[in-house]
Amino acid sequence: MPGDMSQTPAPLLCLGATSLIGGALSALPDRPRLICISRRPPPEMEQARDRWITADLTGSEPLPVRDVETALGLAPIWVVAPAVEALARSGIRRIVAFSSTSRWTKTRSADAAEREIADRLARSEDALAAACDRLAIGWTLLRPTLIYREGQDGNVSRLAHLARRFGIIPLAGAGAGLRQPVHAEDLARAALAVLEHPATLGRAYDLPGGETLSYRAMVERVFEGMGHRPRVLAIPPVLWRAGFALAGPFLPGANAQMGARMEADLTFDPAPAQRDFNWRPRDFRPRFPA
Ligand SMILES: NC(=O)c1ccc[n+]([C@@H]2O[C@H](COP(=O)([O-])OP(=O)(O)OC[C@H]3O[C@@H](n4cnc5c(N)ncnc54)[C@H](OP(=O)(O)O)[C@@H]3O)[C@@H](O)[C@H]2O)c1
Repeated sequence: MPGDMSQTPAPLLCLGATSLIGGALSALPDRPRLICISRRPPPEMEQARDRWITADLTGSEPLPVRDVETALGLAPIWVVAPAVEALARSGIRRIVAFSSTSRWTKTRSADAAEREIADRLARSEDALAAACDRLAIGWTLLRPTLIYREGQDGNVSRLAHLARRFGIIPLAGAGAGLRQPVHAEDLARAALAVLEHPATLGRAYDLPGGETLSYRAMVERVFEGMGHRPRVLAIPPVLWRAGFALAGPFLPGANAQMGARMEADLTFDPAPAQRDFNWRPRDFRPRFPA
């Protein structure tokens, strides 16, 4: 992991600065200066250390930036990939962009919308690599698994919210499927580490978290992180599906595949990232204030 980078003269252009990883990056005490892009920057008093620019990456306006050579793509890859030409015109020569392991895990989903996401991720990765190669921009793609940052994300923190509200979390079946949740701060540090390792040029890496555990164990750790004894309710998958058919319309952002996936292993090999930029993420021990 990088050492003290506060003296780095050139700032980094941060696309998706308000994302989970962007928030974690901003909170790093030893990070470089950032030029942050957002369609809705935060209030001025929260912008102390960085310059914020209001911009839509899908717009046709060139980005009003100069003297920045490196961009971190923390917005969805399908937003970042089409912006590569504009970034090249702004002087960008190096891009580290985040995609997702959903590229692999959702390809065979029974849900057509999920298959489309996998497809879109794959197409966007290819488009970003091709555009960068054409424009002589060095690129690296990082594909996290499930990202969490306590109190901020819609995955692990959502489980904590449910646990707090209902005191129990239902699982579809035994919840035996394996997971590797990854902390947003480890990903922010990974993006910086990649910049210091030329072996990462022109490569894509899956980035699993530091621990592989079952969905059930992940839920139990969430309870432990709140200082509570774990309480989970295993519901037979057939009942889960029936319940979802009734309750699904009242659960925005959820779909029946989420239950089906609790039994599936979603695991990835950290070895290439360990080898090329010393990827050493933390174990899964989230902490939630009582
Ligand atoms: N969340 C996960 O579990 C997960 C898992 C694997 C991979 N990933 C990937 O990791 C990255 C971060 O994920 P996330 O869930 O925190 O963020 P996200 O919801 O995928 O993206 C939100 C960010 O994208 C920016 N953005 C979106 N459209 C934009 C546009 N047209 N112009 C400018 N900015 C735009 C938003 O900025 P403003 O709204 O401020 O404009 C915000 O900062 C993404 O690449 C995501 O695909 C996420």
